[in-house]
Amino acid sequence: MRSALWNRFQLGWHCSALFILKVKRFRHERYGVSTNPAKYSAEQLEIPRDSRLWSPDFLFGTATASYQIEGAIHEDGRIPSIWDTYSNTPGMVLNGDTGEFACDHYHRWPEDVSIIDELGVGAYRLSIAWPRVMDADNRPNPKGLAFYRRLLEALKAKGIQAYVTLYHWDLPQWLEDRGGWTSRETVYRFAEYADLVSREFKGLVTAWATLNEPWCSAWLGYAAGRHAPGRQNRRYATQAMHHLLLAHGTAVPILRRNDPGATVGIVANVGASVAETPSPQDRDAAYLFELQHNHWILDPLLKGSYPADLWRLWPGAEPLVLDGDMETISAPLDFLGINYYFRTQVKSDGANGFIETEMPGVERTQMGWEVYPQGLARLLKGFHATYANLPPIYITENGMASNDKVVDGRVADPSRISFLSRHLLAVDDAMRSGVDIRGYFIWSLLDNFEWAYGYERRFGIVHVDYDTQVRTWKDSGRVVQAFMKARKAQA
Ligand code: FCB
Repeated sequence: MRSALWNRFQLGWHCSALFILKVKRFRHERYGVSTNPAKYSAEQLEIPRDSRLWSPDFLFGTATASYQIEGAIHEDGRIPSIWDTYSNTPGMVLNGDTGEFACDHYHRWPEDVSIIDELGVGAYRLSIAWPRVMDADNRPNPKGLAFYRRLLEALKAKGIQAYVTLYHWDLPQWLEDRGGWTSRETVYRFAEYADLVSREFKGLVTAWATLNEPWCSAWLGYAAGRHAPGRQNRRYATQAMHHLLLAHGTAVPILRRNDPGATVGIVANVGASVAETPSPQDRDAAYLFELQHNHWILDPLLKGSYPADLWRLWPGAEPLVLDGDMETISAPLDFLGINYYFRTQVKSDGANGFIETEMPGVERTQMGWEVYPQGLARLLKGFHATYANLPPIYITENGMASNDKVVDGRVADPSRISFLSRHLLAVDDAMRSGVDIRGYFIWSLLDNFEWAYGYERRFGIVHVDYDTQVRTWKDSGRVVQAFMKARKAQA
């Protein structure tokens, strides 16, 4: 008798346990609802209480880019971009991934805006896809414009400041067919695009950034061939850079005129280097690396000239510069966006250049990039010392990729929490040395299409399951949320 009862009890218990598990799994799969029992606190970021990072006027945000998250590449009149062409070319992107579906943000943006809102950050950095808002004659596409209007209005309604990048690498393919950034025509078409969107979205945007990372567009796109459009000629790269910077400088007065309430700037990626040995040749190689990565862009913007040593590195590759170009390029900026990820070790190539070398035993991310927060602090302090007119800085991207998995509704990513914490301390360090830094954006809100590495490399603080499009908060996202809550509570 007792054992029959006991069996029934056990069976009942098993059934209910199974039922609860099933409901949990269903809730997770269907709605991305977390069943995660872990506890999160602001302390996990280890930011000293006297840091300006605790002050509510230091801006926190997350960042994304159109091609990496939107998908819907054939919808509402969007025309092809160079990244559609490149990712559809066999062998260019890992696993043959493309941006065709990505995070389906084009349809799921309300959910993504809710996530940003729940995160509690003050700003969201996004980019507008030029091929979505203009047709192949560079005329407005009302449906594409309507998408961004809805998104920007939703952000504004929630009090989230929009930091909008005009060009995060998705050049309309028809322009590439006419020479892309090697052609001066692209500068004038970009100015028309800047004019259109700043008239359309006036009042909805806090800050306009003309370009994201011109170094990647010019060097990876036109010399290394590792990004779209995949061309491989150093001479193309220097001319492309000149036209990118000229497009930026041409757009600055247009953005100011059309949207006087917004600030105007540009976003540059910067790299730190270290010489393999202390020999003068290797030290020169490290100097040339930073010259090429950082000062190739910052000198024209802030000094109105290219650094002369660039042509020691690339003899004969000077771009064609017309009268007045450098004045246009060096138009004053309201802010400079800085993206920082890692440090590179280099040695002399025995001639005028440098080659990258392996640094054994260092901490690395899923990208193979070294984790080196001190590089960020050093570069920021260096820019502050080098450029008298350095504008206020926003760290517009910083973050890391890891091979994150959802286990019982939870994504444990302790390495990302530690990465963010250490880089925030580097920002704090630079601020204490007098660098004017106003904000910090985490790359990225969501796992997304990581260019040549496709979907394998996960940078999000929110995990994306690409089969179901379910979003699951990673632990890092929850810790950032806890920090934002604590910051508000003590304000
Ligand atoms: C930057 C890009 C961004 C993202 C990160 C990891 O170079 O601006 O889109 O891919 O790297």
